[in-house]
Amino acid sequence: MVNTLDATFTRGSAWKPDLFKGKVVFVTGGAGTICRVQTEALVLLGCKAAIVGRSKDRTIKAAEEISQLSSEGCVLPICNIDVRNFKQMEDAVKQAVHAFGRIDYVIAGAAGNFICDFAHLSANAFKTVVDIDLLGSFNTVKACFDELLKNRGSIIFVSATLHYYGVPYQSHVGAAKAGIDALSNALAVELGPMGVRSNCIAPGPIEGSEGVKRLITKQYAENSRKMVPLQRLGTTRDIAEATVFLLSPASSYVNGAILVVDGGSWHVGTHFSHNMYPDKLVKGMKSKL
Ligand code: COA
Repeated sequence: MVNTLDATFTRGSAWKPDLFKGKVVFVTGGAGTICRVQTEALVLLGCKAAIVGRSKDRTIKAAEEISQLSSEGCVLPICNIDVRNFKQMEDAVKQAVHAFGRIDYVIAGAAGNFICDFAHLSANAFKTVVDIDLLGSFNTVKACFDELLKNRGSIIFVSATLHYYGVPYQSHVGAAKAGIDALSNALAVELGPMGVRSNCIAPGPIEGSEGVKRLITKQYAENSRKMVPLQRLGTTRDIAEATVFLLSPASSYVNGAILVVDGGSWHVGTHFSHNMYPDKLVKGMKSKL
């Protein structure tokens, strides 16, 4: 499978196989394309993981599959949890601590997205994405806060590059991700004195991810690759490597950073949704008149 990791990840890897031995990561969206592979890399390097998801079947299946990467069977599925609900997040953290005794790292990765222009975006649609992405990220870290303080832990928010410039059809996501960057920066400053680091990873177009599947048509795929300065789409492994770096001692002085992993894409200033710009937009706007 293109999007998952196996034992070859540690062979010839830059990372020591037991880098995260004794550590525990709490991951929201851990059954999704990107966060799942972030979790896989950490598990392959000795970490235990609690993955949190809304869908019972999907979360259990992902946990079972990731567990097979380690002889210790160390992935706990925590299901039926909506990151928008703080009480549910507190319960999820209790389950993780009960199973593993601690939480050292948090990956706030749960996100929601759909393509919609402003003219057709309802107030509730905007709120829904801001609630999942931004409020959900806040709830995740807030619920894990005691554990992070106790263990001088580390936070990774999964952000984006959408808000560095105006990306059409993504005003809701861009606004939410800008908020996530701001939250991470503030936490880096407030929690740094307690030994807790906070950083963001901003993935660019990642092959096989839900976002790219929805945004790139087959016809546009080749052109999309050419628009990336490194001439390829990113892989989930690219994000996993960045994750390992940010949680490892190699980045012990990295705090309040936004690590863009996009092959240089955003500097080119075009986004995949531009293939619908402006014709679809103008047509949609006219339909509102
Ligand atoms: N275009 C426009 N508006 C949309 C939409 C779309 N494609 N999808 C949902 N909405 C609107 C709904 O119409 C609703 O607004 P309304 O009450 O004014 O009609 C609002 O968003 C909430 O929708 P709902 O389906 O009730 O929210 P939810 O909490 O069940 O799910 C998502 C929200 C984002 C998770 C859901 O839209 C989804 O499954 N998206 C695709 C999967 C995904 O996002 N994966 C993450 C990849 S990064």
